[in-house]
This record gives sequence, structure tokens and C-alpha cells, in this order.
Amino acid sequence: MTMAEQLNTVAILVPADFSGHAAERIDRTFRRVGIGRTDPALVTEEMRRTVRGIASFAGIDAAMMDALPNLEIIASFGVGYDSVDVGHAAAKDIMVTNTPDVLTEEVADTTIGLLINTIRDLPRAETWLRDGSWVRKSNYPLSRLTLRGRSVGIFGMGRIGQAIARRLEAFGLPVAYHNRRRVEGLAYQYHSTLKGLAEAVDTLISVAPGSASTQKAVNAEILSALGANGVFVNIGRGSTVDETALAAALANGTIAAAGLDVFADEPNVPKALLDAPNTSLLPHVGSASEHTRRAMADLCVDNLVSWFSERRPLTPVPETVHVKARN
Ligand code: NAP
Ligand code: 8YV
Repeated sequence: MTMAEQLNTVAILVPADFSGHAAERIDRTFRRVGIGRTDPALVTEEMRRTVRGIASFAGIDAAMMDALPNLEIIASFGVGYDSVDVGHAAAKDIMVTNTPDVLTEEVADTTIGLLINTIRDLPRAETWLRDGSWVRKSNYPLSRLTLRGRSVGIFGMGRIGQAIARRLEAFGLPVAYHNRRRVEGLAYQYHSTLKGLAEAVDTLISVAPGSASTQKAVNAEILSALGANGVFVNIGRGSTVDETALAAALANGTIAAAGLDVFADEPNVPKALLDAPNTSLLPHVGSASEHTRRAMADLCVDNLVSWFSERRPLTPVPETVHVKARN
């Protein structure tokens, strides 16, 4: 059999809600097996016997992995893979891949847009024009806040954090950061604690991954350290924020405003954040252009192709980098 014929026999499980471009490519290369959602209760005997790979936006938990004894690889669509139980995958010698780099610049662009929307109130200014208030009432009120004179802290100075920092440099703003480890060769001021960073800046951008170590890391203490002129932007994961504490800090003036692309229980957004006059909110669109989602889809499928033809992944997550292909 040729390699193309061999790949055509490999069953890849794809949940219904998936990238159309990735699904088409999987159809052309592998044998695509559809499933309504990633629920072990929906796994048939045929899937149990044949499925060797999963391609998914959605989370894959231990029960789903256990329901598929021949599963070798989970090709996760997105750079953040907090919804995949990677510990269980590693223990079962299942490879997990993600889609780094190809979305970095798009997400950094979105972050800057969200930052400016939050500080200069541009979405409400546009509504003012569209609803006729400009004609009926007056000019839109001056924005309380400005980007001028701000200093920015980045929580999570990885690939996307550094792309955001490069943009902020062009805006003439000083940048500092907090990671668990200092990044070699990076000139920005490093803070070994998130609290130290929040105390040193008035604008905090979180682009940290969701994980046990970042769970609700941005809490009442951090927001209070940011201060009354403080602006908080979250483009990373909703789980990194104590949303109740954030809503309280916005209501009582502990901080000035927040811009959020991600939430703890998407697509549900807490009413207190929706109702707050000092929030700018987006429905998780950091990477959501056709251009970038296509590049992510290609990398997701290229990982499957490489795994089943070369027996190695292109972009394995660190937790499963040691996993070897089965014969
Ligand atoms: P990355 O290169 O792995 O960067 C993550 C950074 O976070 C690293 O510098 C890491 O440094 C730091 N970090 C991790 N855990 C930490 C902790 N407990 N305390 C402090 N710092 C910590 O990842 P990336 O490509 O920049 O992506 C970052 C995240 O952005 C993704 O995981 C995803 O959640 C989010 N994202 C969101 C969107 C969107 O649409 N809104 C799109 C893409 C990505 P250390 O390991 O040294 O701590
Ligand atoms: C996507 C993301 O919206 O890459 C990530 O971590 O959060 C976004 O790019 C998401 O992965 C699509 O499922």
C-alpha cells in the first residue's frame, strides 16, 4: 500500500463543531469519523476498535481517552490546551499537539485593539454615532482614560506576550512582565511575583495559559495592587481571573476599567461584567480571522499527517513530548 492509501485507512474522530477547512483536509487524507460532541457515551463499538486520532476544538477528558483504547494522538485546535487532560494523555502514552506561533501576531493585534477599546471607549462611541446620539445630543463625551503615560505589565511573557510587548514599544510605553522564569535576553523589567508586577504598573495584560498554577491568579489582592487608575485586559484564559473579585473591583473603583476576550464559563458572561459601564467585552475572538484560523487548521491536520506518516508530531505540547509512536 502507498502511504496515501495507508493514511486513508486511519480513523480520526472529529466532533461536529469543528473547523470546516480542517474537516475537509481530514476527509481527503484520513477516514473521518463524526461524533456529535466529545462525550464517551456517544462512542460506538466501531469507534472503540478503530479510532487512532482525535482532532478537536473541544476539551478531551480522561473518560473520553479511556473510551478509545487505540487512541494515539489528540490534535488540539488552538495554542492553549488547558481543556485537554494532558496528564492523563502522558500517562497513557497519547501524544497531544497544539497550534503555536501561527496565531501569535493575530492575537497580539486583537489585544491592542481591545486595550484601546477599553481605555478610549471606542465601541460605545461608535454606538453613539450609529444610534443618532451625535446628531440628536452632542459630541461623544471625552474618555476618562488615556493610553498616554501608562506603563504596562504582561502576565505571561511567552510567544504572544512578546508580540504584544513589541507593539507596545512602538506606542512608546514601558513594559514589564511576570513569568515563573525570567526570559533570557529580554530587556523588559522582570518581576518574580504577579503582585510585584501589579504594584509596578497601571495596566495589566494577562496572556497566561489556563492551568492549576494560574487558576484565579488575578484576584482582589492583585487588582488592588493595580490601583484606581488601573486597567486590566485578559486575552489569555478566563480561569486565570477571579471574576467575582473583578466585578467588585470595577464597581467600587478599585480599578478603572477592564477589557476581556475570555471568560471562566464561556459562552456565559457574568451579568455584573456585562452591566458594568467600564468593561469592553469580546466573544473570544483573539485568533478569529479566516486567515489565522485556516493556518491553525492546517497545523492541526499537519500534526496528524506527520504522526501517521513520519511517526513524529510537528508541535507536541511539552507534557507529551516524550511520547513515542506505537508500531
Ligand atoms: P507560551 O508561549 O507558552 O507563553 C505562556 C507564558 O506564560 C510563558 O512565558 C510562561 O512562562 C507563562 N506562564 C505559564 N504559567 C505561568 C504561571 N503559573 N505563572 C506565571 N507565568 C506563567 O504561550 P502563548 O503562545 O504565548 O499563548 C499563551 C496563552 O494565550 C495560551 O495558552 C492561551 O490560553 C491564550 N490564547 C488566547 C487566545 C484568544 O483567542 N483569546 C488565542 C491564543 C492563545 P513560565 O513557564 O516561565 O512561567
Ligand atoms: C481559539 C485560543 O479561539 O489558541 C487558543 O488558545 O484560545 C483561540 O485561538 C481556540 O483555540 C479555538 O478553539
